Amino acid sequence: MELKKLTLLPQGVEILLPAGSPLTDIEYETPRRHIPFGCRSGACGACVVEVVEGAAGLGEPDPEELDFLEDLGKAGGTYRLACQCRLKDSATIRVAAD
Ligand code: FES
Repeated sequence: MELKKLTLLPQGVEILLPAGSPLTDIEYETPRRHIPFGCRSGACGACVVEVVEGAAGLGEPDPEELDFLEDLGKAGGTYRLACQCRLKDSATIRVAAD
């Protein structure tokens, strides 16, 4: 199984996930919830993250995700819904500090 690295800022936590995993699958790799999430289906907006590096490795957002990000005031290309991203290559994201 190929693993890819997801780096979470501002904590600087690095987690390996199987290639193609939704970013919210980090909950299975660590006892602490690093990315807030709710529906896991792109409908609630709880999992918005800022992509710092490796946007191409997360795949292209579909039109529904882009529309919802715009509704949330997060249009412009650097924000994604973590539950809708698949980790195809290593990436760095920023989550809200808790
Ligand atoms: S968890 Fe609800 S939009 Fe991602």
